[in-house]
Amino acid sequence: MKYVALLCILFLGLACEKTSNNSHTEHQAKKERGSIGQSAMVASAHPLASQIGKDILKSGGNAFDAAIAMQFALAVVYPVAGNIGGGGFAVFREENGNVGSLDFREKAPKSAHKDMYLDADGNVIPKLSTEGHKAAGVPGSVDGMFKLHEKYGSFPIAKLIQPAIDLASNGVILYEQDAENYNKYQELFKKYDLDSHNYFIKETSWQAGDTIYHKELAGTLSFIRDKGRDGFYKGVVANQILAEMNRGNGIISQDDLESYQAKWRDALTGSYKGYKVISMPPPSSGGIALLQLLQGASKYDFGEFGHNSAKTIHLMTELERRVYADRATFLGDPDYYEVPVTMLLSDEYNDERFSSIIADKATRSEEIKEGKVDIIESVETTHFSVVDDKGGAVSITTTLNGYFGNKVMVKGAGFFLNNEMDDFSAKPGVPNMFGLVGAEANSIQPEKRMLSSMTPTLLEKDGKLAMVVGTPGGSTIITSVYQTILNVIDHDMSMQEAITAPRVHHQWLPDRILYEGGGLSDEVIQNLEGYGQSMEKRGGIGRMNCILVLPDGSLEGASDPRGYGQAIGY
Ligand code: DON
Repeated sequence: MKYVALLCILFLGLACEKTSNNSHTEHQAKKERGSIGQSAMVASAHPLASQIGKDILKSGGNAFDAAIAMQFALAVVYPVAGNIGGGGFAVFREENGNVGSLDFREKAPKSAHKDMYLDADGNVIPKLSTEGHKAAGVPGSVDGMFKLHEKYGSFPIAKLIQPAIDLASNGVILYEQDAENYNKYQELFKKYDLDSHNYFIKETSWQAGDTIYHKELAGTLSFIRDKGRDGFYKGVVANQILAEMNRGNGIISQDDLESYQAKWRDALTGSYKGYKVISMPPPSSGGIALLQLLQGASKYDFGEFGHNSAKTIHLMTELERRVYADRATFLGDPDYYEVPVTMLLSDEYNDERFSSIIADKATRSEEIKEGKVDIIESVETTHFSVVDDKGGAVSITTTLNGYFGNKVMVKGAGFFLNNEMDDFSAKPGVPNMFGLVGAEANSIQPEKRMLSSMTPTLLEKDGKLAMVVGTPGGSTIITSVYQTILNVIDHDMSMQEAITAPRVHHQWLPDRILYEGGGLSDEVIQNLEGYGQSMEKRGGIGRMNCILVLPDGSLEGASDPRGYGQAIGY
């Protein structure tokens, strides 16, 4: 009773039935795998970005080269989340097995302050941290890519940026989902288009098959190609960003741009059932929360309880409830707040933390810590994974935060700015757009990085690379990565099955289990309600792009059917 029939479910909205008595061997034979490559693999949210990454690898580039080329390509072909106006995190493994991480998260501008999104009465001003010029943090992606390249790249940077420039100049054909997104945000594009320059605005609607030309973005990328990081943080492009700030009362200054620096950080490591787990440290909460959840999971045999059975979901939820409460209280930018990493990852702490879990009764989140809740907006980020033929691997999650970030296109430069300032806690206990609450640890301060949930992660087994995982999804990122790892290790799924499987999520507050429509049977929902859990249906959770190393050393790349990405290997 280990395995759940998966692929029939999500988008057909059918109930999910357990298969019976699948022997391990039968299941091995039946596993539905993603793309297989013998030597190397990439997986991203857009087929053109994946193609570019694969071409770089095939022509002798390493995983870092491919990842840099894919980051720039995604800024063109996937502007909803791919970016040069945002930031992200990379977790990587060198050929020699050394692991590390790069934090290219946005920072608060120097003139930002704790109460900048509050009115005179101390109430949060709606939308000020999510839309428009003031919502933008200082972008980190370009500096991040140059730092990654300087240390680990093997191809000239121009060769890695050129494919993105070519795509931007020659035009990109829209998929159905692109057209839908472009149409959905027309009103907000118009609202923040202060000098009639946003070329995403169209009087008739966008259609699948339309070509969009990014001439201005091609120019911006050419500056970056020719002048390096200064091509973005100084000169023409920087002036365009500053002019845009002036136009909309934004607060990013020349000094902010020039002084932005991505940071190398030691990756966090932990273990789970014989695997080494390597993930992102603060200012992302992802690595700590994931390792806490896995520590909790190591006490249970989820494989025996069954994938997405009421018992498994209940216990995962109880772990998540406690871990997300810790996130809200203890996590923030480690350069500004002493995050108790060692304590949060210690066995003693987590054993005690999880000791109040009851196998068939929900704890109420309010009993753990108080807070208020809001609705989670639909939002966008993107994750891509790369494995090269030399043993190198890169896992990058990058974002503008919301779809098209703050909806502000920089005039003349052709890219959107982020709305990452909303990831700060604008006021203790008041939820952000993911319904996440925070406290002092994540309050706004000049030059501080806002707390993230992004969880780019690698796993090793016996000293060898085993998996590359990650996803968008705001607060659901951590639990999606968690479920994918459990699906492969505990539920014996292929990577494609693991990321296709219906997902559930709990984040302490709001106190309810989110589940993908059609993903759980009525019986499982009723059983969970019987334990005292509140259930809420929602649309797709996450869009994973992941890679699994198979026992014979070949690679399975998998792209989430919730999106239209692609895994390509050779
Ligand atoms: O850093 C974070 O946690 C968020 N800004 C990520 C946003 C996100 O994943 C939106 N995606 N669907």
